[in-house]
Amino acid sequence: MTSLITTEVTRAAKSLAAGHLCAIPTETVYGLAADATNVAAINRVYVAKGRPTDHPLIVHVVDFAEAKNWFAQLPTWAEDLATKFWPGPMTLVGFKAANVLSEVTGGQDTVAVRVPAHPVAQELLVELKTLGVHGLVAPSANKFGHVSPTSAQHVNKDLGEYLTAHQDLILDGQQSEVGLESTIILVTESNPVILRPGAITKADIELATGLSVNEVSPTAPKVSGSLAAHYSPAAKVVLLTSTEIPTDPNGGFIGLANLKVAKELTTLLVAKDLVEYATNLYQALRLGDEKGLATIYVQVPEGDGLAVAIRDRLTRAAN
Ligand code: TXA
Ligand code: MG
Repeated sequence: MTSLITTEVTRAAKSLAAGHLCAIPTETVYGLAADATNVAAINRVYVAKGRPTDHPLIVHVVDFAEAKNWFAQLPTWAEDLATKFWPGPMTLVGFKAANVLSEVTGGQDTVAVRVPAHPVAQELLVELKTLGVHGLVAPSANKFGHVSPTSAQHVNKDLGEYLTAHQDLILDGQQSEVGLESTIILVTESNPVILRPGAITKADIELATGLSVNEVSPTAPKVSGSLAAHYSPAAKVVLLTSTEIPTDPNGGFIGLANLKVAKELTTLLVAKDLVEYATNLYQALRLGDEKGLATIYVQVPEGDGLAVAIRDRLTRAAN
């Protein structure tokens, strides 16, 4: 007997191959997918999201072997990263192969590629290959500038109306496990450069490559997720710099369990560790809006590793 999810995946694969859009689950966040070789479909992704068309997209492929077809070449250390962290929450930005569409790259000479680990995404990409589709562009399935979706319900809130009106699909793959967008690593220079921090950390990259991670240079390609204001809920986000917790009847609270929790605020998230913090952060920001809160007070985690990515998103959400 074929399972329900397999039936849904087959339907989604056929739909994508026919040029429709489909919101897909990944382990980081949900993506709004389109065939990466179909210009009309890609253009609709920009329209659905309200995203400026000069912002490049990430191509999602089933494995490293497929990923290689999208790049002109990769340094050996980038191959080490691919072998170590794919499938997983890592995107590599390298020089593009000649035939990659400029609608995908935003007209740049580089392309971003990722192999997602989510079983539904994997199943979908396997099935798409049999239909002749080898890559899907998939920006986060939210309205431009909004909080990324970590569930099918979030996607439906942001894009449901548009997708329904155009007979596009949403594939439900439960809550995204990582909860933050992939680490984006530039691999066109002598050393790796982190364009967007994520669950694959600086230490992970240095260990896998034996190279030190360089700072972003002024000439490095721009990442839309690195705009000062991004990942923003409707509520005002206030970053708490001390353990002092404000009293605010119209305020929500996001923080870590080992810190003092504000009883006066509506609890949106009290995470037991950084992994749980990352997984549930976007959901908590959206919950604040659902509850109609004016302000969300956030305890910013300190330190390295995953804390870097969480701080990055919180800083932008607060802008
Ligand atoms: O985890 C993720 O990466 C999710 C899931 C769905 O895979 N996708 C995602 O896509 O976050 P999006 O479009 O929201 O963010 C992709 C980022 C953008 O900031 C874009 O500027 C950057 O990747 N990017 C894409 N191609 C690039 C390129 N050639 N050079 C530099 N940055 C690039
Ligand atoms: Mg995004």
